[in-house]
Amino acid sequence: MASVEPSQGMGARARDDVEELELQLLLEAIFRRYGFDFREYAAASLRRRIWRRVRAEGLDTISGLTERLLHEPGAMERLLLDLSINVTAMFRDPTFYVALRERLVPMLRTYPFTRLWVAGCSTGEEVYSLAILLHEEGVYERTRIYATDINDQVVERARTGLFPLAKMRDYTQNYIRAGGTRAFSEYYVAGYDAAEFHRSLIENVVFAQHNLVSDGSFNEFQAIMCRNVMIYFDKSLQNQVHRLFYDSLARFGVLALGHKESIRFSPFADRYETLDDREKLYRKVA
Ligand SMILES: C[S@@+](CC[C@H](N)C(=O)[O-])C[C@H]1O[C@@H](n2cnc3c(N)ncnc32)[C@H](O)[C@@H]1O
Repeated sequence: MASVEPSQGMGARARDDVEELELQLLLEAIFRRYGFDFREYAAASLRRRIWRRVRAEGLDTISGLTERLLHEPGAMERLLLDLSINVTAMFRDPTFYVALRERLVPMLRTYPFTRLWVAGCSTGEEVYSLAILLHEEGVYERTRIYATDINDQVVERARTGLFPLAKMRDYTQNYIRAGGTRAFSEYYVAGYDAAEFHRSLIENVVFAQHNLVSDGSFNEFQAIMCRNVMIYFDKSLQNQVHRLFYDSLARFGVLALGHKESIRFSPFADRYETLDDREKLYRKVA
């Protein structure tokens, strides 16, 4: 592929235009070759991460990265890890889990069987937290959790149930603040440097790769949790994903977003009522 490189004497404006063009070509190439659609991800953070990958690969230009990605799937995997920021934690935002106990669980109790979708589950910390909570509330047995992420490497890690032992102190604090009713250490076996969580916690969990941008709905759910994922999407992509969630939720189903997210400015705002404004819990009503 021909490289579009800014020439030395080029003005700053022209250089920006070339960079923008190279970026669009890169995103287009990724989409066509691998099917991952980052074309509507929020531009500033995307650009920063792509430049970081350009440098990490020992390259100088975005078009150089495009060429490498097209010929070397391993480079695509490395970029995917850069782009799908996987930061997560067990019982992240403990008050959110208190709200789940108070708002979501009573609703789940009214059904003989429920399906929950954790979209953008990363390495699974959120899934194990939810499983523990549902277990303590006595509704885990009649629940199936679908845990998905665009990145199959993180999904694979989630399946193992292994988490760094060094994190357990923080996670224990989170668990207590989240209203945990047992000793947190009951849920795992401590190894040399990893805590291995009991397999029974994922007995009712289906892990799968799923891309919120390009894959469709695959079931009907009583609750969908998608926290700290859409912050990386631009407005139109957020709206597209909100449509997917709206279509995938049963009537009176609950949508749970991250602390920095809201349904308020989406076209679906009036189809939900707010269950908890601070914890971003919404119920589909129309
Ligand atoms: C910051 S993590 C959030 C993890 C977890 N939900 C939490 O709040 O702790 C964002 C996750 O979204 C995933 N993600 C990004 N784009 C996605 C997409 N198009 N479809 C599905 N998952 C995506 C990333 O791979 C990453 O694991």
